[in-house]
Amino acid sequence: MFAVPANTIAHSSVPATVHPALIARAVAADRPRWAHLLRYDPDVRFAALVSSDEHQEVWLMSWLPGQETDRHDHGDATGAFTIVSGTLTEHVLHRGTTLSLSAGQSRVFGPGYVHQVRNLGPDPAVSLHVYRAARTMRTIEDRAVGLAG
Ligand SMILES: [Fe+2]
Repeated sequence: MFAVPANTIAHSSVPATVHPALIARAVAADRPRWAHLLRYDPDVRFAALVSSDEHQEVWLMSWLPGQETDRHDHGDATGAFTIVSGTLTEHVLHRGTTLSLSAGQSRVFGPGYVHQVRNLGPDPAVSLHVYRAARTMRTIEDRAVGLAG
């Protein structure tokens, strides 16, 4: 995974080949498309499916202060996520790096990418995630397949 400045991504006229970070950013900018889905749940980190087709799924997530994923990868999926509001902290386990991600920043991932995402700040955060072909999460501890991140 690496940071993706918007002006370094090639554009495509074929939807299936549009970079997932561009998809995440476009959906993030289209608030009427997802604002009605947004919830904040103090008991469990909130996630809602915004759209899906044969190529990808787009998910909206909210993060109250202290909410976090397990350490996980996304199996064979590739994708990207964009911070819509707030600040998230991403720890990339296989690289040993920790990044603070604020609104407008995006990250991409592929097979073998292991991370943990947390809201360590005082304010709620919102993010949009693109998964190709589907959202899958495997915790590092038990390799169980689930839907947590
Ligand atoms: Fe993840």
